[in-house]
Amino acid sequence: MRVLVITGAGVSAESGIPTFRGKDGYWRNFDPAKLATPEAFARDPQLVWEWYRERRQRICNAQPNAAHAAIAKLAQHANEFLLVTQNVDDLHARAGMSPTKMVQIHGNIFVTRCSRCDFSVLELDEEWQEIPRCANCDALMRPGVVWFGEQLPWNELQRVENFLDRRACDIVIVAGTTALFGYIVDWALRANRGGELIEVNPEETPLSQFATRLVREPAAIALPRLVDQFVSQTKL
Ligand code: OAD
Repeated sequence: MRVLVITGAGVSAESGIPTFRGKDGYWRNFDPAKLATPEAFARDPQLVWEWYRERRQRICNAQPNAAHAAIAKLAQHANEFLLVTQNVDDLHARAGMSPTKMVQIHGNIFVTRCSRCDFSVLELDEEWQEIPRCANCDALMRPGVVWFGEQLPWNELQRVENFLDRRACDIVIVAGTTALFGYIVDWALRANRGGELIEVNPEETPLSQFATRLVREPAAIALPRLVDQFVSQTKL
């Protein structure tokens, strides 16, 4: 069995991480979609960093939920598996997802990288008050995530493309994402050529019309049940 899972913020919602476009998404009256941009960083890097540092803290204090655990279980049972997550948190990893089977297509919130050159560091324990400057070129450091209008990281993109090019998938699950980015819908459709395309989301999305099964439930309820079904019935 060949399986592709695509996740978005909804999968971490039940761990207490606010989604981007949900009602809890606003931070101090700022729209995250406007903060997660190169323009916002250029205008007010301090404000953007405050938001990301708060999110880092919240993620550190959060625990993976049953949806993360179910996806990790599916990964262990499938012959070939790839998780493409838009989430920059580490909850999939902490639930046991192997890095070899996961692509964080929008980056990793715990990476701090230079806004000008390639220098980056993994920061789990930051102490700084002032925004750090690059050790190589002295430019301001920024969070290692993809912002609106920026290109997807090349290596991660290649891993997704390679997986999609190899063979069609028997099961594609898209969970907890508004699927507003064209590439999310595109990858799900390219992976699914005649198999199951399951959407797990309490709300309708642009992908819903293509799904072979719609599960309008929270991910932490729907995914453990779905995965158990697959593992027992299809002998993954
Ligand atoms: P959004 O905040 O846009 O959407 C969250 C989705 O999760 C919505 O479709 C909700 O209906 C759904 N949802 C909410 N609670 C859920 C639950 N308990 N179980 C299942 N689904 C639930 O988040 P994303 O689609 O991940 O990108 O957003 C995509 C990207 O836009 C993010 O990675 C980020 C953002 O701007 C960048 O920063 C580049």
